[in-house]
Amino acid sequence: MFATRLVAAVAWWLLLTAICCGGVAGILQLEQEAPFVYDDGQRCDVETGCLSAAGTSEGAGVDALGDFYREQTIYLTPNGAPVTLSTRYYDNGIQVFRQEFSSGLQGTSTGDKDAVSTCFPRLRLPDVPDLRYITPGGYMAGWTLLSHGSIASDLNWFRDGEDGGFVVLFSGEIGAVSSVVISSLTQPMATNVKLDRGNLTLDWGVQGQAEDIHADYASEVILVPGEEGIGENIMAWGNALRQYHTTQKIQDPSAEYLSYYTDNGAAHYYNPLPYGNLHDALMSVYNFSVQHSLPIRRLQLDSWWYHKGAGGGVKNWTEIPAFLPHGIAGLSQATGWPIVAHNRYFSSDTDYAQQNGGSYLFTVDEEEQKSLPLDQVFWDDLLDDALAWGLDTYEQDWLDRQYLFTSAIHTNLTLGSSWLNDMNTAALERGINIQYCMSLVRQLLHSVTLPAVTQIRVSDDYILQPDQWRIGVTSLLAHALQLRPYKDVFWSSHKNPDVLFIDCELLAPDLNQPWRLMHLYGGRANVSESGKPCVAWRDIGWDDLYYGSGMDLNLCRNPENIKDGAFCFTNASFDMPEESWEWEYCDVPVCEVDCFTLSGVLYVGGQNVTQSGRPCVDWGGEYGIDRAVCRNPNNDVAPWCYVTEGHTERDYCDNKCPEATEPNPALQAAVSTLSAGPLGVGDKAEELNVDLIMKSCNADGRLLHPSKPLTVVDGYFFSADYREVWTAYSQVESYKFGIIFLAEVDKALTMTASELNLADAFTTSTVVFSNYPQDLGYRRVVSPEEALDLPSCGGYLNFCLLYTAPLIQTDAGDLYILGELEKWVPVSPDRITDIVTTTTATTTSSSASSSSVTLSVRGVQGESVTLSFSGANDFSVTCVFQDSGMMTLNVGDQTCIAATVA
Ligand SMILES: *[C@@H]1O[C@H](CO)[C@@H](O)[C@H](O)[C@H]1NC(C)=O
Ligand SMILES: *[C@@H]1O[C@H](CO)[C@@H](O)[C@H](O)[C@H]1NC(C)=O
Ligand SMILES: *[C@@H]1O[C@H](CO)[C@@H](O)[C@H](O)[C@H]1NC(C)=O
Ligand SMILES: *[C@@H]1O[C@H](CO)[C@@H](O)[C@H](O)[C@H]1NC(C)=O
Ligand SMILES: *[C@@H]1O[C@H](CO)[C@@H](O)[C@H](O)[C@H]1NC(C)=O
Ligand SMILES: *[C@@H]1O[C@H](CO)[C@@H](O)[C@H](O)[C@H]1NC(C)=O
Ligand SMILES: *[C@@H]1O[C@H](CO)[C@@H](O)[C@H](O)[C@H]1NC(C)=O
Repeated sequence: MFATRLVAAVAWWLLLTAICCGGVAGILQLEQEAPFVYDDGQRCDVETGCLSAAGTSEGAGVDALGDFYREQTIYLTPNGAPVTLSTRYYDNGIQVFRQEFSSGLQGTSTGDKDAVSTCFPRLRLPDVPDLRYITPGGYMAGWTLLSHGSIASDLNWFRDGEDGGFVVLFSGEIGAVSSVVISSLTQPMATNVKLDRGNLTLDWGVQGQAEDIHADYASEVILVPGEEGIGENIMAWGNALRQYHTTQKIQDPSAEYLSYYTDNGAAHYYNPLPYGNLHDALMSVYNFSVQHSLPIRRLQLDSWWYHKGAGGGVKNWTEIPAFLPHGIAGLSQATGWPIVAHNRYFSSDTDYAQQNGGSYLFTVDEEEQKSLPLDQVFWDDLLDDALAWGLDTYEQDWLDRQYLFTSAIHTNLTLGSSWLNDMNTAALERGINIQYCMSLVRQLLHSVTLPAVTQIRVSDDYILQPDQWRIGVTSLLAHALQLRPYKDVFWSSHKNPDVLFIDCELLAPDLNQPWRLMHLYGGRANVSESGKPCVAWRDIGWDDLYYGSGMDLNLCRNPENIKDGAFCFTNASFDMPEESWEWEYCDVPVCEVDCFTLSGVLYVGGQNVTQSGRPCVDWGGEYGIDRAVCRNPNNDVAPWCYVTEGHTERDYCDNKCPEATEPNPALQAAVSTLSAGPLGVGDKAEELNVDLIMKSCNADGRLLHPSKPLTVVDGYFFSADYREVWTAYSQVESYKFGIIFLAEVDKALTMTASELNLADAFTTSTVVFSNYPQDLGYRRVVSPEEALDLPSCGGYLNFCLLYTAPLIQTDAGDLYILGELEKWVPVSPDRITDIVTTTTATTTSSSASSSSVTLSVRGVQGESVTLSFSGANDFSVTCVFQDSGMMTLNVGDQTCIAATVA
């Protein structure tokens, strides 16, 4: 072993370095090739002799990842600057590649933000048939551009450069898969990975526009091989990162209690209707929650509440009085709800920057209309002010835009991490949690060093989009890094009257007419009016130019209202001059919507034809109106207009806005609860579905979570049959209770416990039973070796939930704890905190003994908790909580009594 490594150390850049090891034969051997650096504007590599080796060494050592063996070579550039490259090999197969620049380098920019300025390691992808990759990409923790496919045939979708940063390579088949996970271990904010699609090499190094590398800069890349399956290996990778950085996340109460959200898709997103402002709208939610004992414990305020400046960025993070006449403080005091407050990138004209007369150091990017704070004192002051009005969790949204469009972050290697570190430190000192939103993969990776960053959005905005709940992969990434995945808000009812989302997305309202709702097309049309297929916006770089949902796809859109309606390019590419790009309008609903909500008192559109098709005549100054349009100036039931010149006849207008529908609120609620992250409901007060919401939490609003979130099984990456098969579990003491989620799974699958990622949950004997939908009626008792025949659960947005419970042997016979069947998580460690089996010798006979099972059950005053069991028969026991605290449920006696305080 040692000898081989010695050889490798002498000429390692020429050799095959076997990266994998043992197991399923270590199929994935990645070759390691020659490194390079840019210096003085020139590429300088080993092959040409430009980088000359000045010494190699090897030796053993130990760090947070364990014992390692290290090979190291020091190179010199023609300027004599040392470049130290080393590889550490750990006993468990992990490798860490380090590049270090003790006296720095000058003139390192390649000019390309997606390229690398230095390269180590360069890995050549092995020539293995059916080598596959998984690359999360884009914002929302890699959800928007998540891709996986075959290296041989789907390479176009491999995410690298600014979009990427996390790579899984795998080969084999379900149950016998060999994989490696590769990412930055340190400096992810300043590191790129670049795939050469011709040579199949994967280069890791300093981001391509860095102008200089300062002295003592070092960065590391980790490679984690594994033979235990893809999901297991991603968890092992996450553990390694966490172990290396030894960061302890702070407590996260806003992820553990029911929240009310007002973000994109919520009924009150920029929309106070039917009230005149959002204070009153949110007070109606508060009043409803009190009347219906709905235990909302947090309130999220989205981007609608603060002042925007150039490019839509933050001018100042203070309330717009028209929206919140009593301020956030007034709202927080009236409701008692701690605040989750949204923030976005800073505008170039932000009031905080010294450049604009403010007090703080910022870098201002006039061209991109963005700015970035450079000093922690800015965050200290911002959060101190916010503490005064009730801030509990700081939601940093638009992380991608702030990174992508602040040029200084690309040229200066330290800015990306210092920005996020300063934010974290200020929050940490004040006990504030941070939620990341629209994070790129690099920000997800960097968060592993940040204790206050505890939550992360794992899919795009809700806005009733049919794919938004598919978070099984990104939840796995979040969970591996100890972040709580957040699915975003949802409607708990099918309808929220007078909220318009059908194919139309809400735009920020005009502050001069705050409640005039403006929409742009946001539907799924992907052909032009003459039937030509649309070119994907991302293929011509417009996803970077204009933010918006669907801007990464080939859908009809009208970004920032640049044309008179939704359109798309029908023939355009980077290879063609932009003047020759062809475009056409699309035949879609006109969403610069001319429609009214409620009774239309606020309607200011141009509709001029009545319900019976008669044209309006001019109001002639009546009610101060001088046009021929539909209006409701007198609080009538709908807009109307005169239809005869003498104003003798009038008629109503019927251009009422179409109403959107949430097809399956139960799916939203179940996925949100089983994500084990925050849960935000966003209906209008009277549409909050109390029964559905209470399936997620106890009477105090505490969410009844599983221990591990729902995440995809490995089959997901092999065949569409396994989409969406996700699993989770709850652990109480040594007992594991599995949860199997099946959505749109048309086939009856047969899967083993390990294929379900639930190997530990299957003991001698395990019961598997359905509890949603009610009439599924599935129940099996299986041994660990037995493969499970899962029920088919097909149909659009249809889902099923199965649960597993391990056998507990008692004198009275076999016992299975089924749990609290009215909740999404029947056995949650938040409810059942302990399970104890005791054996007591009886006095009559020395050999006889009786064993009993007791459960520690947590509840709140007035709560009645019914737990179900399966033994010889099914039975249930109800605990009635006189006081908040713990009760002891004795299964043998079928009693539940208040726990005696020790
Ligand atoms: C392979 O790499 C070489 C050297 O970097 C480069 O010149 C060549 O263009 C690459 N080949 C392809 C097909 O990209
Ligand atoms: C909420 O309840 C309070 C007290 O009953 C009442 O004064 C207030 O008008 C209500 N607000 C809304 C918006 O329903
Ligand atoms: C925030 O910006 C708005 C709009 O420019 C301005 O009216 C207001 O005075 C500013 N508030 C603070 C606290 O700077
Ligand atoms: C990069 O930014 C940091 C923090 O503002 C600053 O101290 C440093 O001088 C900058 N480096 C360069 C090369 O501009
Ligand atoms: C266009 O949309 C239709 C319907 O949603 C879908 O079936 C089709 O695959 C899409 N075509 C492309 C090229 O995306
Ligand atoms: C797109 O435009 C190019 C350049 O004008 C032309 O050569 C090509 O035929 C066009 N393709 C289609 C499908 O119209
Ligand atoms: C109604 O509106 C349309 C579109 O703006 C306009 O062309 C038409 O002249 C208007 N008709 C009347 C009667 O004002």
